[in-house]
Amino acid sequence: MSDDLTEALDRAAEQLRDARSVCVLTGAGVSAESGVPTFRASDGLWEGHRIEDVASPQGWNRNPQLVWDFYHLRRANVTQVQPNPGHHALARMEQHWGSDRWTLVTQNVDGLHQVAGSRHVLELHGSLRRTRCLDCGEIVDQGLKPMTGIPNCPDCQGILRPDIVWFGEMLPPDTWRAAERAARECTVMLVVGTSAVVYPAAGLIAIAVGEGRKHPPGIVLECNLTETDASTLADIHLFGPSGDTPLFERLGI
Ligand code: OAD
Repeated sequence: MSDDLTEALDRAAEQLRDARSVCVLTGAGVSAESGVPTFRASDGLWEGHRIEDVASPQGWNRNPQLVWDFYHLRRANVTQVQPNPGHHALARMEQHWGSDRWTLVTQNVDGLHQVAGSRHVLELHGSLRRTRCLDCGEIVDQGLKPMTGIPNCPDCQGILRPDIVWFGEMLPPDTWRAAERAARECTVMLVVGTSAVVYPAAGLIAIAVGEGRKHPPGIVLECNLTETDASTLADIHLFGPSGDTPLFERLGI
């Protein structure tokens, strides 16, 4: 381990130990070590599809069957994977700090944080496990049970869509408000495994360091394989895979 990383780990552990309130922002990198592919490593293709064909309202209007086939496949893929040490470490940290001082905001839709035991989780981009009825609006947690075709609502027979936020759509307002509050009030923000290029999610980092805050700026710790758009805002950089958890060993967690 380089001297730089050792020093960064020591400083990060000290900040976390003293944190009054922690907000974590996670992205696809956290699930990479579980075998879930990240987005920007895939040349703009998901399972061979253009993102705009399978993750936009226009794509849905053109071909809902194609969209559902893609999500059936993604749901099936998640049944094959398990949380990795990065997910588990974040869940242990929540137990240690207590859920009232800890908010995990995730852009991931795989639900692996919750499987690992995280409780206070805000899913900004929805979940592969849930469906939403286009007629009655009911959102149902379907788990990962296999579905086929274009499923219908058991209550009103309306068409179901995945409860996922597609490009051009708004984030769920209550979830976003809670995430903004967590970013504004945290004393430490931990940014893990995200390229920080998709907004408004990435804007939480700017909020943590000052935009619209009453309190002094939060300290931002970034954990990623490489530099990202978040790096200039981060105070401490921990370059390495998120499943490698020397930080948590230092904290004794
Ligand atoms: P990206 O694919 O954009 O970025 C993944 C990040 O994880 C990159 O910065 C990688 O360097 C980093 N990474 C990869 N493996 C890692 C590891 N083992 N440990 C630590 N870091 C690692 O994914 P997101 O930032 O999550 O939106 O993408 C944000 C949003 O863009 C997604 O939620 C999705 C997508 O379009 C929607 O579906 C609405």
